[in-house]
Amino acid sequence: MNIFAVLRFLHIVAGIIWAGGGLLMYFVFAPAIAATGDAGKQYAGYLITKTPFTKIMLVAGVTTVAAGSWLYGIDSSWFQSNWMMTGQGTVFGMGGMFGIAALVFGFMVGNVNSRLAMLGGQIQGKPTAEQAAELGALAKRQAWVSKANAWCIIVAVVMMASARFFA
Ligand code: HEM
Repeated sequence: MNIFAVLRFLHIVAGIIWAGGGLLMYFVFAPAIAATGDAGKQYAGYLITKTPFTKIMLVAGVTTVAAGSWLYGIDSSWFQSNWMMTGQGTVFGMGGMFGIAALVFGFMVGNVNSRLAMLGGQIQGKPTAEQAAELGALAKRQAWVSKANAWCIIVAVVMMASARFFA
């Protein structure tokens, strides 16, 4: 079996799942959750704690980055060939960096989501002052990490999709 073909297959399939899931969540589901009050909170809590969404995103993200890094290693003869300096080598490399940054932000999104879901489960009726402060801090963190995650994914996807056309 050709290892390059297997890695490329895994990279592209996992990349589609990861980028598609992340962007759909950021641009469609998160705003719907935010706009639907208590029903939205209940939906988000169920999604994060009872469905495999977070696990799927974690496995797909790690697979995309691991297979992508390996592909880059093969393409560059393990960081030695001039391919890295060509147009396509540069764009694949930069896209890869945005992909790695997206994975780091993705870990942070997963972490803040679990903490929010846990806190949501602890709050009975009106939150205490302490719970409200923690909720506010977590919501603020969630806003910027999910934005950074989504935009790094977009830049990585655009670069991956166009790299081959640079000389
Ligand atoms: C959002 C994440 C990513 C997506 C959706 C994605 C998607 C893709 C796609 C569709 C291709 C095929 C492009 C073509 O053949 O013209 C590709 C190729 C490639 N990707 Fe990614 N990628 C992502 C992240 C990464 C990361 C993090 C790395 C490296 C650290 C990476 C390294 C590569 C390399 C080296 C190739 C070229 C493989 C070849 O020579 O055929 N990618 N990627």
